[in-house]
Amino acid sequence: MENKKISTKKSDLEAKGIVLCGLCQDMMKKIPNEGVNLTVTSPPYDNIRDYKGYCFEEEDFKKIVSELYRVTKKGGVVVWIVGDSVKNGSETGTSFRQALGFMAGGFKLHDTMIYEKNTSSFPARRTSKRYTQIFEYMFVFSKGKIATGNLICDKPNKWAGHTNWGKNTHRGKNGELVKTKDIKPVPDFSPRNNIWRYNVGKGFNSSDKESHNHPAIFPEKLAEDHILSWSNEGDLVLDPFMGSGTTCKMAKKNGRKYIGIDASEEYCELAKSIIAKYKPKKLGLGPHADADWNYA
Ligand SMILES: C[S@@+](CC[C@H](N)C(=O)[O-])C[C@H]1O[C@@H](n2cnc3c(N)ncnc32)[C@H](O)[C@@H]1O
Repeated sequence: MENKKISTKKSDLEAKGIVLCGLCQDMMKKIPNEGVNLTVTSPPYDNIRDYKGYCFEEEDFKKIVSELYRVTKKGGVVVWIVGDSVKNGSETGTSFRQALGFMAGGFKLHDTMIYEKNTSSFPARRTSKRYTQIFEYMFVFSKGKIATGNLICDKPNKWAGHTNWGKNTHRGKNGELVKTKDIKPVPDFSPRNNIWRYNVGKGFNSSDKESHNHPAIFPEKLAEDHILSWSNEGDLVLDPFMGSGTTCKMAKKNGRKYIGIDASEEYCELAKSIIAKYKPKKLGLGPHADADWNYA
């Protein structure tokens, strides 16, 4: 591997995304210290699937956490989406071990969020002894105090338009009741909770049919919701286990720079072809904003 670092200079990366093919524990070495604002990723876990033979083991995990810590800006975020398989009648606990591994690596555990799916390929039967497994963890780690939080406000308020107390008076200096002029009614929407529900499966996860040539994509809306929540336009978003390129595609669509890494050449080609279909959101960055964006 050529060890030249990728430039994250404004002029070099502002309007470009990059796809790197190789093991992320090696490829991340190309990213300079504190170059990345946000990582949104889902690693292979418990060898549930065969990704063209690529997986990662315990010792790789430590290297990956340490590289992610190095490349993340102060206040930056890593969203790590992971679950457990069942082995010998017990859940493996991989997700918890990894969450603790990130904390041991210096990250704060900002929030333990849940990705709830609307359906499962293995629903419980009445005679089963285990309920249907319907969620994955979305661990949100931050490097120090989190810098960006643009909470999505789409939870409708039952009492929208009303005032909180039904009264628009307050106590004046002498204790008498006076009319409040600027009393604010309950807004139409408030920030959503930390359990996010998505429809999954073919036709729901992705607007690109060919994404399903990859066996384990996450919903593009999930990637977008994290990108909007924890980064701003012009920020750099990383996915070290890029697969079909869902995170990179949504980063590009939302005016973020991106770096995607995958060990499989076939998935890198798939991701590049999907990402190339999308136009970057115009950022008003000057003459190079449109030129050369399709670096991937
Ligand atoms: C769960 S999939 C990611 C899917 C992706 N979120 C999407 O929506 O398409 C995990 C990916 O990690 C890749 N992978 C496995 N080990 C890797 C490693 N050490 N470095 C980079 N990629 C790896 C696999 O090839 C696979 O595509």
